[in-house]
Amino acid sequence: MQIGVVGAGRLGGTLAEWCAESGHDVAVTSRHPERLTPVVDHMGGHGIAMHVPDAVTFADVVLFAPPWESAREALDMAGGALTGKIVIDATNPPTPPAGGRMSGLETLIEWAPEAHWAKAFNTLPADVLTRRRGHDPLLAEFVCTEHRDARRAATTIIRDLGFAPFYAGGPETARLTEPGGPLQLTEVDVFHAKDTLADAMAGYSA
Ligand SMILES: NC(=O)c1ccc[n+]([C@@H]2O[C@H](COP(=O)([O-])OP(=O)(O)OC[C@H]3O[C@@H](n4cnc5c(N)ncnc54)[C@H](OP(=O)(O)O)[C@@H]3O)[C@@H](O)[C@H]2O)c1
Repeated sequence: MQIGVVGAGRLGGTLAEWCAESGHDVAVTSRHPERLTPVVDHMGGHGIAMHVPDAVTFADVVLFAPPWESAREALDMAGGALTGKIVIDATNPPTPPAGGRMSGLETLIEWAPEAHWAKAFNTLPADVLTRRRGHDPLLAEFVCTEHRDARRAATTIIRDLGFAPFYAGGPETARLTEPGGPLQLTEVDVFHAKDTLADAMAGYSA
């Protein structure tokens, strides 16, 4: 696959290196692409630095990992290139106030409905992913989406990177995985993912 990484920082840069290691061709982005030379140097010929709109155009799948505060600006930079594009959102919005509010994923869908969104890779710090990657029992990586192709793409990338995809539900379910939700910072292997998700859903609707 051709993968574009919007926000190649601690999380995005790590995922970008792993995608390249798995044989995907990866465009990493920055508002200053020339600063990404050290990241590209770690990508064994599978990496290239681009500006955001070029990387989104290049990509079959976009990994979206800017800081939440910059998310809207990053989407604006991507512009029309987002139309019909699969985008996997790994961002975390600030802890929501008590009471109902849209998930970060639902907010992004509202801002860029022309893309096909999924959520994954947002629950755990990059150093935990690094420690658990490829080790049995595989770490479960929760996926939230209502789009079939986005779910398929997220599943493929999660597997390629050495984790176990676990479907959690649609965009509203992403609240469980984001700050303030019970799955945020929850390290769970594939064998316990089903029970953990059921507990999280029960606790949230109680
Ligand atoms: N760090 C983790 O372990 C981790 C784990 C789970 C989820 N997350 C989530 O992932 C997101 C990124 O976290 P991080 O820790 O990786 O942040 P980070 O290290 O600060 O990296 C963020 C990247 O986004 C880019 N960026 C900033 N503003 C941008 C804009 N307006 N348009 C395009 N790109 C922009 C920055 O590149 P330039 O400044 O060069 O443009 C930077 O490389 C956050 O939403 C965070 O909650 C992080």
